[in-house]
Amino acid sequence: MKVIITKDYEEMSQKAFEVMHAIVAAKPDAVLGLATGTTPIGLYKRMIEDCKNGTSYKAVKTVNLDEYKGLDYSSDQSYVYFMRDNLFDHIDIDLKNTNIENGKAEDAAKECERYDALLEELQQDVQLLGLGSNGHIAFNEPGTPFGCGTHVVDLTESTIKDNSRLFKDISEVPRQAFTQGPKNIMRAKKILILASGQNKAKAVYGMVNGPVTEELPASILQLHPDCTLIVDEAAASLIK
Ligand code: F6R
Repeated sequence: MKVIITKDYEEMSQKAFEVMHAIVAAKPDAVLGLATGTTPIGLYKRMIEDCKNGTSYKAVKTVNLDEYKGLDYSSDQSYVYFMRDNLFDHIDIDLKNTNIENGKAEDAAKECERYDALLEELQQDVQLLGLGSNGHIAFNEPGTPFGCGTHVVDLTESTIKDNSRLFKDISEVPRQAFTQGPKNIMRAKKILILASGQNKAKAVYGMVNGPVTEELPASILQLHPDCTLIVDEAAASLIK
C-alpha cells in the first residue's frame, strides 16, 4: 500500500483530485467507483471545478459503493440523493451512466445479484473509499467474510452512531444497507482510500500496520496490488 501523508483535509482532497483527474484525462470513459460520506466532499468539489474548467465527465461511468435499504432518491438522506447533490448535478455526467444499489428494491437478493453482475461488466478503473472509525470499507462491518459480494448488511451500533450526525435523530438512521462486498472492491484496478481526522487514527493504524483480518475489513487492502492511501496528519498519527 502506498501511503501519502498530507497536512490537512484540503491537501488530502487536492492530492486525491490529482489522482482522479489523471485517470479521467487518460481514459474519458473510465469507470469510477465512488463513495459517499464527509471524506470525499472536498474531492467532489474539485471535480466540479475541473468540469467548469473544461474537463468532460460525459462518458464517465460510475458505480457507487452502497445505499441505505429502504431509501431512494425521494429521501434526502439516501446516497443517490447525496451523489446528485454533491457531484452529479454539477458536472456534465450522463445520469444514465451512474449506478447505485436500489435501496427500495422489493427483492433484496435479486438486487444484490443485479449489482454483482453490473460490477462484473463495469470493472472499476479506480474505486474510491472512505474509512469507517471501526475499520469498515463501504458498509462491510467487522466480521464480514472477505469473499462476500454485494449483500445486505445490518449496520453496527458504532456506524449508526457515526452516521446519525447527518439525520435529525438517531432513530431515523436506517438499520440496514446494501453494500458492495470486499470481493467487489478488490476487483477494482486501482483503489484510492482517503482518511482524515483523529477519530480515524486507530482504524488507519490497523489497516496499515495490523494483521490482515476480517475483524478490520480495510486491512484486506494490504493485499491489493495498486492501493493508495491519502491520509492527513491527524488520521496518520498512529502509523509507523
Ligand atoms: C460511504 C461508505 C462508508 C464511508 C465511511 C466513512 O459510501 O461506504 O464506508 O466511506 O463510513 O465515512 P465519512 O467519510 O463520513 O467519515
